[in-house]
Amino acid sequence: MSPMAVTPQLKLDATKIRADFPIFEQLIHGKPLAYLDSAVTSHKPRQVLDVLRSFYETSYGNVHRGVYTLSERSTEAYEGARQKIASFINAPAPRELIFTRSATEGINLVAYAWGLSNLGPGDVVVVTELEHHSNFVPWQYVAGRTGADFRMIPLDDGGELQLDALDTVAGGGNVKVVATGLVSNSLGTINPIERLAGWAHEQGAIMVVDAAQAAPHRRIDVQALGCDFLAFSSHKMCGPTSVGALWGRGELLEAMEPFNLGGHMIRSVRFEETTWGEIPAKFEAGTQPIAEAVGFGAAVDYLNEVGLEAIEQHEHELAAYALERLGEIPGVTLYGPPADRRAGIVSFNVEGIHPHDVSQVLDWEGIAIRAGHHCCQPLMQKLGVSATNRASFYLYTLQDEIDRLIAGLEKVKKVFA
Ligand SMILES: Cc1ncc(COP(=O)(O)O)c(C=O)c1O
Repeated sequence: MSPMAVTPQLKLDATKIRADFPIFEQLIHGKPLAYLDSAVTSHKPRQVLDVLRSFYETSYGNVHRGVYTLSERSTEAYEGARQKIASFINAPAPRELIFTRSATEGINLVAYAWGLSNLGPGDVVVVTELEHHSNFVPWQYVAGRTGADFRMIPLDDGGELQLDALDTVAGGGNVKVVATGLVSNSLGTINPIERLAGWAHEQGAIMVVDAAQAAPHRRIDVQALGCDFLAFSSHKMCGPTSVGALWGRGELLEAMEPFNLGGHMIRSVRFEETTWGEIPAKFEAGTQPIAEAVGFGAAVDYLNEVGLEAIEQHEHELAAYALERLGEIPGVTLYGPPADRRAGIVSFNVEGIHPHDVSQVLDWEGIAIRAGHHCCQPLMQKLGVSATNRASFYLYTLQDEIDRLIAGLEKVKKVFA
């Protein structure tokens, strides 16, 4: 691995970190790239790209399938990545960490493999009004298939969960699943997972956490959170696409039916009957995203070296600055909680201008932000809008990029005046 541009510290140097990311070496429409859309996907540092290249060039083979050198090297790298990622979230054991295609696939795995066998009429599945569709639609679907009730914890006007409504939401039903994001991808709201997990367990329910927007940005400790399952994606945390991870409590994973069926996940296959392998193999049917998992491990090394505390602090400062500057622009509406209770995500609208138009004019200035419903249509319904603009920050984001966003919005307003 090539040397890091930074050493662990609380205050990170985003300008130095940026030098690790080749994407910033180009101009967009003749301007330096201001990438303010890391919540959708993050860019990749050389340290990760180098590991991917060298893995393919020197060690690539299929895993758990051969007794020759390349297969052994590949298996070692793949299982090494599992260990790193498991310890990144303080999982009690690496075998409880399943490689998936994405956070979406991890949540679907739990909804199908746990939900279809454990839910039925009279049971209640609880999500929130903040959820990304990935942690909403699978539960809505599985509740519908099994006859369970599907309910939402409401939001208050500040974009935070109304915890005093929990008992009303349960409404005398048999709550079996509470599924919540740790950080909202639309509003940046940080949800009180420990508290929700305590409530879920009092009801006899499992607590499922969508950590897609949390794992890249803050230290995750599944044992301290007290959850039962936690899903996240590599591509949002400096790693490759097409790989993610699902952590689950060992005893739950062991008791569950498999999700995908095929090679590697079996103990024995007979015409009469097939039996399943041990976890994690039981949930890893077929050829896995091998190099991607190894790259995911390298991404976790990179984030650990920069320091999750420093990353969280940096993004927090940027969010506070962005909220302040955006709040000064007449006609801008901001959504979500105050800076001290949100992550590095800021959603807003500019009066009379559709977010797609805002985003397109900003692109002429080399500024990339997201415009749309952010896969959160129930939240948009709640906010009474069809879409918002969203700026989101990461370890390589500079305050100067927020200044450029503010200047860009003045231009947008002139174009549509
Ligand atoms: C909160 C949240 N959950 C889940 C997902 C889905 O992630 P993926 O598309 O990597 O499966 C996203 C992606 O934007 C997200 O923001």
